[in-house]
Amino acid sequence: MNKLLIKNARIVTSERIYFSDILAEAGKITYISENIEKKTDYDILDAEKKYVFPGGIDPHVHMHLPTFAGYSADDFYTGSKAALLGGTTTLIDFVTPKKNQPLPDALAERKREAENCLTDFTFHVSPIDFHKNIENEIRECIDRGITSFKVYTAYLDSIGLKDTDLLKIMEIVAEAGALLTVHAELGNDIEKLRNQYFKEGKVNPEYHALSRPPETEFKAVEKIINYAEQTGCKVYFVHVSTRKSAEIIKSAQKKALPVFAETCPQYLLLEDSKLKGKFKDTAKYVFSPPLRKKTDNENLWNALSGSVIQTVGTDHCPFNYSQKLLGENDFRKIPNGAGGVEHRLSLLYTYGVLESKISLNDFVKISSTNSSKIFGLYPQKGEIAVGSDADLIIWQNTDEIISIKTHNQSCDLNIYENIEIKGKPETVIKNGKIIFSDGTFSDNISNGEFLKRKL
Ligand code: URP
Ligand code: ZN
Ligand code: ZN
Repeated sequence: MNKLLIKNARIVTSERIYFSDILAEAGKITYISENIEKKTDYDILDAEKKYVFPGGIDPHVHMHLPTFAGYSADDFYTGSKAALLGGTTTLIDFVTPKKNQPLPDALAERKREAENCLTDFTFHVSPIDFHKNIENEIRECIDRGITSFKVYTAYLDSIGLKDTDLLKIMEIVAEAGALLTVHAELGNDIEKLRNQYFKEGKVNPEYHALSRPPETEFKAVEKIINYAEQTGCKVYFVHVSTRKSAEIIKSAQKKALPVFAETCPQYLLLEDSKLKGKFKDTAKYVFSPPLRKKTDNENLWNALSGSVIQTVGTDHCPFNYSQKLLGENDFRKIPNGAGGVEHRLSLLYTYGVLESKISLNDFVKISSTNSSKIFGLYPQKGEIAVGSDADLIIWQNTDEIISIKTHNQSCDLNIYENIEIKGKPETVIKNGKIIFSDGTFSDNISNGEFLKRKL
């Protein structure tokens, strides 16, 4: 049986910071105490009083996503390896069925695609229309361990739901006691603006952002909150990008509505000025919702520290430059998405903790514990406690620059190129096994597991 003793850990959880030793046996934390006695059959790791955090949970990634531009650049293996190196030990990806494919079949297919995933993983499952059997399909997915469903109010020509269908899906999800995650953008308004700009010869990446102005997000958020009030459905807004959306979400929470929210590092750190310039420099910043203004960045940090927004996911969905080039003469044809799974924790630590925007406990909450609680993984994941999975990271200070030359994501673009990071994992432990330590990635790690969640 694999036994790992971590000595001298400075444990940081969502609630506390304290010094202790941690013993992990058979993948679980079995003992936390000062001065646990060393035994001959233990592997020993000295954390040397460095921070030890629970392994990160990224609640929003798209590995191996099929699109008109081909698959997104990271598959489950490469993307999960990059995630682990950055301290994320659990990923939540998506199941998007093909037209007329029952949700449980799509789930089974996606699980097979994720077999080579190195982190543990689960999925949000997307109903893309309303049909006769959808309630049974949703309940079947719940029986198979899915507790969150995902809808899109944009992309109406493919996976987006029209309002009448959306309301019916919300009723079903509410009745089943599950959670609905929502990509909230007003698809019809965006489509009109996109086509108008294109007709006027405005074809650069800049018009991607201009065709998705803040109101196309916050008005969608407002609408969904009204629907949540009508149906009693618990909702979680993915990738919130605007100050106004965060304000609307805060008002809903004040009314005790079950509303949760996520943002992403790109909406905390980058501004829409990144989209001004030549195609080759700007195409990588095409993702949805688009980048916003500095005031939005600042207000989203406040929403995080004030617990209005509970999580930071990455929406990891990288495309290579050759794929982005498809939209060289038409921003509508640039595949939407960018990578970020590898640097989420380093960016939050450097620009959140070290700049006093969030506390260390907040850092743990938003990078791990809150996702675990919201998505039905707690206390197995996102916690350092006896009985929890021994997914742990030992943190170190660093002074590095993010670059495509050194990153592990399988993509020739990085939206954080040249950005400095001042902390990163020194050692990553998953299920009590050392995955990565002192620059060396263990070569005999087992694949991650599908996490069956409970309501
Ligand atoms: O631009 C993005 N975000 N692409 C991935 C799909 C989505 O909308 O989340
Ligand atoms: Zn989205
Ligand atoms: Zn996404």
